[in-house]
Amino acid sequence: MLILPSEITPREVFESRRKFIKLAAAGAILGPELALAQGGGLAKLPAKRNPAFAVMEKQTAYKDATTYNNFYEFGTDKSDPAENAHTLRTRPWTVQIEGEVKKPMTLDIDSLLKLAPLEERIYRHRCVEGWSMVVPWIGYSFSELIKKVEPTGNAKFVEFVTLADHQQMPGVRSRVLDWPYVEGLRIDEANHPLALLTVGMYGEVLPNQNGAPVRMVLPWKYGFKSAKSIVKIRFVREMPRTSWNKSAPNEYGFYSNVNPDVDHPRWSQASERRIGEDGFFTRKRKTLMFNGYPEVASLYTGMDLKKFY
Ligand code: MTE
Repeated sequence: MLILPSEITPREVFESRRKFIKLAAAGAILGPELALAQGGGLAKLPAKRNPAFAVMEKQTAYKDATTYNNFYEFGTDKSDPAENAHTLRTRPWTVQIEGEVKKPMTLDIDSLLKLAPLEERIYRHRCVEGWSMVVPWIGYSFSELIKKVEPTGNAKFVEFVTLADHQQMPGVRSRVLDWPYVEGLRIDEANHPLALLTVGMYGEVLPNQNGAPVRMVLPWKYGFKSAKSIVKIRFVREMPRTSWNKSAPNEYGFYSNVNPDVDHPRWSQASERRIGEDGFFTRKRKTLMFNGYPEVASLYTGMDLKKFY
């Protein structure tokens, strides 16, 4: 079960207060316009910012985006991935692309990096638990990869299968989810230019805890749709069975579009807390339909989004 926001709040409140006090003591409270997004000293990954895909909101600090994560293969606490993911070996790494495609292929990480020009995109990132971030990701539209493998007319969905190696991932020994972590999209969703095959963040390669060496980022959907550390991409005829949907189908639907009007059965989705910014002193901010990406609305024309949550 994804952990309840009510369970997270106390630590967040505590941390943001502590941070505020520390910054105040150092005389270093900066306006949002002065906040620079800096990486964490990993290998640099040059990429040109694509202004068409860059929200003009304050970016989440690298430290927050890399220490407050969900990656259950490394534990269920928000701090577990940052503490435990150092055991993940991200090279050599291959991604197998198979199923309903004319050109199935196995790509190593260097070939994936070269498949299309890398872009920096600044996306809002909203977790189903009620927190959000603004992250400068690096990658290219997943549609670039779709073009290369030439799906057949039978390819209606894409399934993302991620690594499940109990030697590298201590969390896989627990039965919290049915491993491997699997996610999926309808083919037209996967083809939407916003869907980002992601290989970096903050000007660098992805840290292990954020899904190195390759993950998806789908900014109009709740974060759990964005599978981390992908090893297989399958083009399939039927809607894939996805991890959270299998685990709690009444709570986590296949689509999982960010929608402030459709509550989670156990909590409201109408508002969110921005990690590192909103805390004890701040009111939660309103969650936007499709997380503020209305350009995806045409993918769902005629669908009852309360039914297809
Ligand atoms: N991918 C894998 N393989 N395992 C996971 O546990 N958690 C998901 C998603 N992808 C998860 C995953 C959830 S619930 C969220 S909110 C996002 O990753 C978090 O991504 P972030 O740590 O980069 O913010």
